[in-house]
Amino acid sequence: MTETRANAESLQRRFNDQSAAIGIAGLGYVGLPLALTFAEKGFRVLGFDIDGSKVESLNAGRNYIQHIDGNRLSTAVAEKRFEATTDFGRLNEPDALIICVPTPLTAQREPDMSYVVNTVQLIRARLRPGQLVVLESTTYPGTTDELVRGILEESGLKCGSDFYLAFSPEREDPGNGKYNTATIPKIVGGVDETGGDLAQSLYDKVVVSTVRVASAREAEAAKLVENIFRAVNIALVNELKIVFDRMGIDIWNVLDAASTKPFGFMRFNPGPGWGGHCIPLDPFYLSWKAREYGVTPKFIELAGEVNVQMPEYVITKLSLALNDRRKAMRGSRILVLGIAYKKDIDDPRESPAFEIIESLLHLGAEVTYHDPHVPKAPRMRSWPDLPPMKSSPLTEEVLRSQDAVVIVTDHSAVDYEAVVRHAGLVVDTRGVYRAPRPNVVKA
Ligand SMILES: NC(=O)c1ccc[n+]([C@@H]2O[C@H](COP(=O)([O-])OP(=O)(O)OC[C@H]3O[C@@H](n4cnc5c(N)ncnc54)[C@H](O)[C@@H]3O)[C@@H](O)[C@H]2O)c1
Repeated sequence: MTETRANAESLQRRFNDQSAAIGIAGLGYVGLPLALTFAEKGFRVLGFDIDGSKVESLNAGRNYIQHIDGNRLSTAVAEKRFEATTDFGRLNEPDALIICVPTPLTAQREPDMSYVVNTVQLIRARLRPGQLVVLESTTYPGTTDELVRGILEESGLKCGSDFYLAFSPEREDPGNGKYNTATIPKIVGGVDETGGDLAQSLYDKVVVSTVRVASAREAEAAKLVENIFRAVNIALVNELKIVFDRMGIDIWNVLDAASTKPFGFMRFNPGPGWGGHCIPLDPFYLSWKAREYGVTPKFIELAGEVNVQMPEYVITKLSLALNDRRKAMRGSRILVLGIAYKKDIDDPRESPAFEIIESLLHLGAEVTYHDPHVPKAPRMRSWPDLPPMKSSPLTEEVLRSQDAVVIVTDHSAVDYEAVVRHAGLVVDTRGVYRAPRPNVVKA
């Protein structure tokens, strides 16, 4: 038996009997639930993160992501199944290393691969024969095969014989009560057959099912298709909202009606724009890569154009409604209700709320916000000039003192009847109020 086959078979055995140690680089919204899932299925997990405060809090059993059950973490720590570290010198310990670091866009809206590159360089420094490396971060087709493999092979070890490499996209949907890491089928594609086989057998131990594709590129592309599909459909329904509004037709009633078709229609809801770490960013990974092949995907660019204009549409609707009440935006007191990018989660990344707040401040409004899940607005890379803000309480007094309340995120914890009862004007971007109300403007 060759040494390569012996390495792969021994790795396979350790995956099968769960004696393998799993390393997860990046303990964020994706990496942390993944680490806990592996721990719960009986693996020992070593989590790596550059953020020392996160590592410290996780090792103390303190969970920092609201929608993840804190007991899961404290149990995993107490049972010594999960440990976090900033010591990247330990990257040679795990049998499998899974990379879950951010893949944002640069200021020029091009892929920012710096987090992936940094992590892979750290892995290269400690890579040992017999390790499996899996990239999970969303990225353009070719990343695993070209970029990651290239850096790892600078170690002198060879992919496919000394170490193994695959891509398996994360499909986490924070706050989704129905599906979690373990119950979402997982796509797996290796840079070669052995990498794919090993990654598949590893994930088969922890997720409900794996979907094997022919290559890492196909797996990378599949993830982008999922997100582009959402981006384009969100743009479509947002555009239709504007069209129907001009015609005096309520988009929400129209969508209710269209959704009764039992086939060939999938509902998307309009909103104040797009948000989160995925939908507004990932599609541009494909546009960027496509340019290398001489093609410009028009749907992606168009979806971007439509969706980024939505906050401005909300501001226009608000200005017109204030105007009807003989009020100017300058000096008006506006409360933004919800700054997380979607309901019932604490993640404000890329939320359209920030664009709306910035425009309101620019127009001279006095802006506050309330979000039951985000007590303090973090500093945002894309909106560096926003002043520090804290969530105001949502009392009758606060509501009565506002010239308008703009619902940006429809968190379940908010009493919307109280909002409409006490606020003079409510701008509803989420279809919270379905029947017409005298002081509600849909936007
Ligand atoms: N959040 C989601 O719902 C979601 C869903 C599907 C896919 N994704 C993708 O998963 C990837 C990770 O996203 P996320 O939301 O978990 O990001 P995140 O910002 O929540 O977490 C990333 C973590 O990586 C850490 N980190 C940064 N550089 C590091 C390094 N060199 N080594 C180790 N750790 C490092 C950060 O400190 C942070 O804790 C992205 O590619 C994203 O597009 C995210």
